[in-house]
Amino acid sequence: MTQQAVDAGGRVTTSVSSVVDTNTYQSGLGNEFETEALPGTLPIGQNSPQKVAHGLVSELMSGTTFGAPRALNRRSYLFRIRPSVQHSKFEQVASKNFLTPPFTLPAAPLDYCWGPFRTSEASVDFIDGLATICGTGSPHSQSGVAFHAYSATASMRDRVFGNADGEMLIVPHIGGLHLATEYGILDVYAGEIAVIPRGVRVRVELLDGYAAGFVCENFGLPLRLPELGLVGSNGLANVADFKIPVAAYEDHDGAVQWTQKFAGNMWNCEVDHSPLDVVAWRGSLYPYKYDLHRFVGMGTSTVDHPDPSIFCLLTSPSDPILGPNFDIMAITPRWVVGDHTFLAPGFHRNCVTEFIMLLQGQFGGLEPGSTTLTNSYTPHGPDAETQGTLRDAVLGPMKVEDQLMLLFETRFPVQITDFANSVLPAVEGYSKQWDGIPKRFGQ
Ligand SMILES: [Fe+2]
Repeated sequence: MTQQAVDAGGRVTTSVSSVVDTNTYQSGLGNEFETEALPGTLPIGQNSPQKVAHGLVSELMSGTTFGAPRALNRRSYLFRIRPSVQHSKFEQVASKNFLTPPFTLPAAPLDYCWGPFRTSEASVDFIDGLATICGTGSPHSQSGVAFHAYSATASMRDRVFGNADGEMLIVPHIGGLHLATEYGILDVYAGEIAVIPRGVRVRVELLDGYAAGFVCENFGLPLRLPELGLVGSNGLANVADFKIPVAAYEDHDGAVQWTQKFAGNMWNCEVDHSPLDVVAWRGSLYPYKYDLHRFVGMGTSTVDHPDPSIFCLLTSPSDPILGPNFDIMAITPRWVVGDHTFLAPGFHRNCVTEFIMLLQGQFGGLEPGSTTLTNSYTPHGPDAETQGTLRDAVLGPMKVEDQLMLLFETRFPVQITDFANSVLPAVEGYSKQWDGIPKRFGQ
């Protein structure tokens, strides 16, 4: 539920969760930040001094090519206890369900709909609890995405994970996650999202003993805020609502397993200390989180239903005409109005592929945690009952109070995995929902 309060400064704050995140964060996205857990760590006027304060070492981490345009350039300097090069030899290990496209099943114009994924196994951590539903492209082409579900019953212990293949958009559905990263702490709860850039190491701990949700692995251009164009300088996701961790370091010795995903395979090595030992950092590459309920939605004030692009929260661009590598649309509680208008998305066949996650509330009678996949030009729209009801409805302002969904779009055809085909529970009758729409022509 959305709650409003007035803080000590007299500002009205909006919150949708009873959970209060007491961590300290910086605000913004695309900014250059600097943060230090020990005063006097950050060098002044340079990033690679001959000797770093407190006996630390300087390490550069780049997220874009060095010559990328200034506004899109992403890189940070990490001032850490030991350099990341200190680890044992990587050995390849198998991964059961956390997979990388391409897959064996053909991309298909079918109406896919699945119920929630819940593991029945004990002591499964976040990484081992990842199961790939579908995907497209590949890390080799640095294009495309993979959509995964996770279901975890244990925190990662003495283990960190880095993903050289893609940035990880984490979408909790049940249970909070404590993300201990090289850049500091992000606690993320249902109703929020977090993004871990490519290569950044993280240890995922469960705040509630059990956690389930989704991960989108983006092989393409890093996610960024969409341009607002004629919308103007306000609206959609506000820059100030993105939360960036402050530096926090671990200084302890002992064996830690570092699992690295690289070119579609999993590799393990051992580090004899915590790799989360960054005392200070500065730069434009960092993890972040965002509360979906802060999204400032737009809509018509006259007639007709706008395109879902008005819900764009973040984008990984690809082609300006054919579509994105990966767009994230935030569909949150909102007012719906319009004169003589069908007040829901109508029937459509789009050039892009759509992947929907229902996180909370109602959508087509599905259980929260359900997902749908609609490849390009596969027709879809309101079910028979909704179409009949809304067609005859007496129109007035309508508040959609209880609905939280993410819609992912990609220009590419998406293949499902064997896991999605045979393990993830398919929703019976989903493809039959339109059969009852009557022929009204001539009546
Ligand atoms: Fe659609």
